[in-house]
Amino acid sequence: MSTSPVKVAVTGAAGQIGYSLLFRIASGSLFGPDTPVELRLLEITPALKALEGVVMELDDCAFPTLAGVEIGDNAEKVFDGVNHALLVGARPRGPGMERGDLLEANGGIFAPQGKALNSVAADDIRVTVTGNPANTNALIAMSNAPDIPQERFSALTRLDHNRAISQLAAKTGAAVTDITHMTIWGNHSATQYPDLFHAEVGGRNAAELINDEAWLADTYIPTVAKRGAAIIDARGASSAASAASATVDHARDWALGTAPGDWVSMSVRSDGSYGVPEGLISSFPVTTSNGDWQIVQGLEINDFSRARIDASVKELEEERDAVRGLGLLG
Ligand code: NAD
Ligand code: LMR
Repeated sequence: MSTSPVKVAVTGAAGQIGYSLLFRIASGSLFGPDTPVELRLLEITPALKALEGVVMELDDCAFPTLAGVEIGDNAEKVFDGVNHALLVGARPRGPGMERGDLLEANGGIFAPQGKALNSVAADDIRVTVTGNPANTNALIAMSNAPDIPQERFSALTRLDHNRAISQLAAKTGAAVTDITHMTIWGNHSATQYPDLFHAEVGGRNAAELINDEAWLADTYIPTVAKRGAAIIDARGASSAASAASATVDHARDWALGTAPGDWVSMSVRSDGSYGVPEGLISSFPVTTSNGDWQIVQGLEINDFSRARIDASVKELEEERDAVRGLGLLG
């Protein structure tokens, strides 16, 4: 291990997701066993003591890839020189809430963090927003960071993507590794659209293989889209280990590249592709290489898909208008 450490900031580091995520990053799951990482952990002041306990546990793991840990409650200090920022810190929803209900409570976190990243992050900064409502929080951070290229901001729909793969594998009896070309379109919310018209199971088109539009509309899509709520109902707390795992998958694939011939779902700034208004942070099928992403082009969108993509994008526009009204867009 001769390279200098990659500096990874994690916000909300003393929270539930943080408690899984930090150990995955420190153990090398993000950049592999040969790349040292330095963790920069941001919390609010009352959570710093708990965070100190988490750091003791990180120390006690003696991870060979963990080159250092710094903690603090000042974003400009913690983000100084960071190469990746994983913005997790935000309030989770409780039973009966939609993620959009968090807009006002959490939106205010992302404008100052966007500004801080703009001032002090490394030139190659890449930002992933996990804290909900993730797409619109990413839009807020991006709009408050005018000097950072907009394509460096993303939001997490990889958990939805992984859920969609897992549910399709269960339905078809295939292994998750047989499932490719999965796409989540739109918002990380109940309106998201997991698309089986381009997904493949062992190389066969998933929608044709299943050939049951009622199951798709009434079972598959709601199961994937409402999985977060089902977990909150069952666990009494929102998904944490799976969210951490998806955050690692997202950031790793962005940094190291997607598998040849396949794509992943990422929420990124729309360039107008597939009729999604330019500037919204919406989920698309993307490939990545050398730390850059490209939206997969040329997929045929049928009427079933079009209606669902449009509904989710409309919700993103409404969220954007709401945070604009709150004065959160830079
Ligand atoms: P949690 O309440 O356990 O932890 C959140 C942490 O963020 C707390 O420790 C809190 O002190 C901290 N925090 C609050 N404001 C902060 C700020 N301004 N700066 C830094 N830290 C701050 O919540 P959790 O279960 O870890 O979930 C975190 C967020 O992730 C929630 O918004 C949740 O809804 C979201 N989430 C998203 C996905 C996804 O797929 N995108 C999946 C699961 C959870
Ligand atoms: C999830 O999808 O599990 C998270 O976004 C948490 C939630 O509120 O659903």
